[in-house]
Amino acid sequence: MTVSFASSNMSTNSTLPVLHLKAISKSYAQTLVLEDITLSLRRGEVLALTGENGAGKSTVSKIICGLTSASSGSLLLNGQTYTPSSRRDAEAQGVRMVLQELGLIPTLTVAENLLMGHLPHHLGWLDKTVLRERAVQQLNKMGLEQLNPDTLVSELGIGQQQMVEIARNLQDNLQVLILDEPTAMLTPRESTHLFQQIAELKAKGVAIIYVSHRLEELQKIADTVAVLRDGHLVDVRPMAGVQEKDLVQRMVGREVDDLNTQAARPQGSIALQVEQLSRAKAVRSVSFALHHGEILGIAGLVGSGRTELVRLLFGADKADSGKLHIHRHHKPVLTITPNWVNPLTAIQAGLGLVTEDRKSQGLLLPQSIAHNISLGNTARITMGGFVARVREKLLASKWIKALAIRSFGAEQAVATLSGGNQQKVVFARWLEKDCDILLLDEPTRGVDVGARSDIYAQINQMASEGKAIVMVSSDLRELMAVSDRIGVMSMGRLVALFKRGEWTEQALLEAAFTQA
Ligand SMILES: Nc1ncnc2c1ncn2[C@@H]1O[C@H](COP(=O)(O)OP(=O)(O)OP(=O)(O)O)[C@@H](O)[C@H]1O
Ligand SMILES: [Mg+2]
Repeated sequence: MTVSFASSNMSTNSTLPVLHLKAISKSYAQTLVLEDITLSLRRGEVLALTGENGAGKSTVSKIICGLTSASSGSLLLNGQTYTPSSRRDAEAQGVRMVLQELGLIPTLTVAENLLMGHLPHHLGWLDKTVLRERAVQQLNKMGLEQLNPDTLVSELGIGQQQMVEIARNLQDNLQVLILDEPTAMLTPRESTHLFQQIAELKAKGVAIIYVSHRLEELQKIADTVAVLRDGHLVDVRPMAGVQEKDLVQRMVGREVDDLNTQAARPQGSIALQVEQLSRAKAVRSVSFALHHGEILGIAGLVGSGRTELVRLLFGADKADSGKLHIHRHHKPVLTITPNWVNPLTAIQAGLGLVTEDRKSQGLLLPQSIAHNISLGNTARITMGGFVARVREKLLASKWIKALAIRSFGAEQAVATLSGGNQQKVVFARWLEKDCDILLLDEPTRGVDVGARSDIYAQINQMASEGKAIVMVSSDLRELMAVSDRIGVMSMGRLVALFKRGEWTEQALLEAAFTQA
């Protein structure tokens, strides 16, 4: 009896969609950002949700997870009307989302973040032993055996924070899991753990919506692909057999250049000479020269010291030893030795840094695009008052066009832009600064394929104007497409330096895994 009951129950479940969206629309201040979205999700199905920056992917996801509500339309969960009043309410019903922006509380430990909302108590006290045990179980699911659950989240790198955030959402009652750009901050190794988890969840019948700009990833894990364009669902089909090219065309509505390979460029004079730069174990005796007109790519795993290296170059952290010489017009103009921590001097010497973490970039979220782009570029708009405002707007309009920043106009608050479009604002600010040496840490994270090629074009343009560029990226295809040389970091050391024509993907990967 029990057996037949269980099996009939399962067969009902497998035919009934676990989640059904019926004619969902959403508007913000009278602008329609989603229109008439109808979509179903079965148990154990992985649905890839794609579309350009600002197409509406995060908005649909947030509606499903109770973070915002639809303006019209309805939702069904297991055939029942589903109107989550909050994220907590959705979570109680087994619908969870890993947000595009990190949501952990930095001042709490990993364990506290993992179990927030159901912290174990014993006689009124927080039961730390149980807390730790459960946290370790959660962490193991994501291959984070090494991570001490008592570590403060603020001490973790951005990739690890993302892994903890994912682990936090692997709860027993899970029915629908939305992952919004989960791998944007992960290394290949961390991504592999995530894909294993996805396979396990799928086998358990969890339905997954997976939002990503990395199309090769989607092909690996998704059963179905849905494409949003301008708030409309333009295509839903089985993933099998779908070519990357078709997908891009459907997303963008036009063909996008392949990552066309850069022809070798002549090397200019030295812009930056780095001598045995070291900081604790993070960066160990790194030396290289960067030339005017050169794009130097930096590859390596998260934690290999890539971000730490660019922070040292910028004077955002203090080096223990080593030197930096900044050159201009074939002469060293500034030599920087340890004890020197001063990004302001770096900026004056012509350096710029686009960091990997949007939140710490100093984007003033409530302020307009115009204000954010001109921030720190006041020299160009010092006329004060009205004229300055007009200039600010003109400047912003130029960048909105060049990088296709999807917005209602220069006055739109940055907080209300989609994730990828916020990233473009950050990038525009630094391009506008007119730096001699630009350090880019994951500049295309979360940026869609079309806009990515706009960004590559800008970087190329800068190099051809004689600027020197260091670009850290986890995307090897991107590095191979834009770099003149690629340096590979592993365990704090620069373990290899390839010229264009000398590298292969295999050689780069092997170098990244070097035990230095
Ligand atoms: N609070 C808000 N107020 C006004 N407009 C908003 C708000 N939130 C989002 N939008 C707009 O809704 C549209 C869709 O944004 P959404 O974040 O869903 O895009 P997305 O597809 O997730 O893009 P990305 O790939 O960049 O993450 C964008 O044009 C965005 O500017
Ligand atoms: Mg988004």
